[in-house]
Amino acid sequence: MEVKTICCIGAGYVGGPTMAVIAEKCPHIKVTVVDLNEKRIAAWNDENLDNIPVYEPGLAAVVGAARGRNLFFSTEVDKAIDEADMIFISVNTPTKTYGVGKGMAADLKYIELCARQIARVAKTDKIVVEKSTLPVRTASAIKDILDHTGNGVNFQILSNPEFLAEGTAVADLHNPDRVLIGGDTTPEGQKAIQALADIYANWVSKDRILTTNVWSSELSKLTANAFLAQRVSSINAMSELCEKTGADVNEVAKAIGMDSRIGPKFLKSSVGFGGSCFQKDILNLVYIAKSYGLNEVADYWEQVIIMNDHQKRRFAKNIISTLYNTVSGKKITFLGWAFKKDTNDTRESAAIYVADDLLSEQAHIAVYDPKVEEEQVYADLNYLETRSEQENKSGVAVHTNPYEACKDSHAIAVLTEWDEFKTYDWQKIYDSMLKPAFVFDGRNLLDKNQLEKIGFVYQSIGS
Ligand code: NAD
Ligand code: UDX
Repeated sequence: MEVKTICCIGAGYVGGPTMAVIAEKCPHIKVTVVDLNEKRIAAWNDENLDNIPVYEPGLAAVVGAARGRNLFFSTEVDKAIDEADMIFISVNTPTKTYGVGKGMAADLKYIELCARQIARVAKTDKIVVEKSTLPVRTASAIKDILDHTGNGVNFQILSNPEFLAEGTAVADLHNPDRVLIGGDTTPEGQKAIQALADIYANWVSKDRILTTNVWSSELSKLTANAFLAQRVSSINAMSELCEKTGADVNEVAKAIGMDSRIGPKFLKSSVGFGGSCFQKDILNLVYIAKSYGLNEVADYWEQVIIMNDHQKRRFAKNIISTLYNTVSGKKITFLGWAFKKDTNDTRESAAIYVADDLLSEQAHIAVYDPKVEEEQVYADLNYLETRSEQENKSGVAVHTNPYEACKDSHAIAVLTEWDEFKTYDWQKIYDSMLKPAFVFDGRNLLDKNQLEKIGFVYQSIGS
C-alpha cells in the first residue's frame, strides 16, 4: 500500500518538526498536522517563520520550504482524519495529576479521545501510528476502541516512537540513529509496517529502519529514555562525591567515557535533567513495573528521579549557604530558563525548581533566556502553586538584556548551557555586580580561570 495522505494529530514539539521533515523529504505525500489549540496552529501558519511555536535550529527553513506545498497546519481535525491513509497520534501524554496513578502513570485521556475521534470519522481503512510515548500495551486499548466503535473499517495500529531530542530535532530527524516500527505479526500488520518503512526509506537507509512487534517497540521507547536519564543521574551522583574528595567530575567523565563500553556521550554533569520526557517516562515505567508487582524493578528506576531531585535541590541549597546562609532580599540572576540550550521549551526545567527554592528564601530573581518568553517563566512558577501569582510576579523579573539582568546582583546562576553565555563581556558584568561577585555554574559552561582572574568567586558542579 502506498501512502499518499498523512494526518498527524498534535502540532507540538514532536508532531510539528516530525511532520515538517516527512513533508520535506516526501513531496509526493500530503501531510496535514492538526491540533485543537487554535493559537498554536495560527502560529505554525504565521507568515513570519520566526513566529512558529517551536524553536529548533533549522526548523523554520524546513517548514518554509514545505508549507503550502504538501505541508498544512489546520484545526479541522475531522477533515484531515477522513482524508488520510495514515494517521499519526502525536498528542501529549503527561503524568496523571488525579485519581489512580496520580503523579506516576501516563494520562492517556488525549490518546483515547483521538482513538474515538478516528473511529467516529473514518470511512476508509487506515493505518494508525502511535508517535506519542505510551505505556507498553497501549496499542491494544487503541485497537479495542477502533474495532468496537468504528464504522466497520479496518485499522492497523503501529508503534513508531520518536527519539529526537529537542535542540537538535531537525538534525536528529534528518539523520536518525534508527527508526523503530512495531506492528502486528499478521500479514496485514507486516504490510502496514512496510508502508511506514517506505516513507522513512525516502531519506533513511534501510539498515537503520528496525521493525519489531508492537510491545517491544512501545517498551523500547521507555527503556531508551530510562537508560539516558540514568546516565545523567549516575554522573550527577558522582559529582557530589567529586566535590567532597577533590576529584573533578569532568575528568572522571572523560576517563570513563574513553572506555568504549561506556562511551563519551551523555556524561555531562549538570544541575539536573529536565524536559518533558525523562521524568514522565521513568515515572510511567515505575508505575507499570509496580502494577505487575515488580517492586525491585520499580525501586531501581525510581532512584534515577530521586537522584535528579536531589541534584536540583542541592544546587539551590549551595547558593544559599555560600551567600552567607541568607538570600533574603538579594538579587540572583539566572542565565537560562530553558531545560537545555537551543530550545524554547521549559517543561520540567531545573531552573523552575531552583527558582522556587530561592523564592521561598525571599530572594529576588532576575531571569534572562534568549528564547523563553516572560509569560512562560511566570506560568512555570505559578503551575507549582507554591505561592500566589502576585508573589511570583514581585519576586521575579524577566529581562531581555543579559547585562541588565546581571546588574547589581549578588550572584549569577547558569541554568542552561546557551553558547552565547560564553561570549559575554564578563569583566563588564563583574564591574556591575555587588562584591564578592559569585557565579554558580550549573552547566560547567564558563571558563573558571578567566572568571577567577577577573575576581569572581566561581563554583561549578562536581569539582
Ligand atoms: P506537546 O504538548 O508539545 O504537543 C501535543 C499537542 O497535542 C498539543 O498542541 C495539544 O493541543 C495537542 N492535542 C492534545 N489532544 C488533542 C486532540 N484530541 N486533538 C488534537 N490535538 C490534540 O507534546 P510533545 O512534546 O510534542 O509530545 C507529544 C508526545 O511525543 C508525548 O507522548 C511525548 O512523550 C512524546 N515525545 C516527546 C519528545 C519531545 O522531545 N518533546 C520526544 C519524543 C517523544
Ligand atoms: C530526550 C531523549 O534524549 C530523546 O531521545 C527523547 O526522544 C526525548 O527525551 P530531550 O529531553 O529533548 O530528549 O533532551 P536531552 O538532550 O535528552 O536532555 C534531557 C535533559 O538532560 C536536559 O535537561 C539536558 O540538559 C540534560 N542532560 C543531558 C544532562 O544534564 N547531561 C547530559 O550529559 C545530557
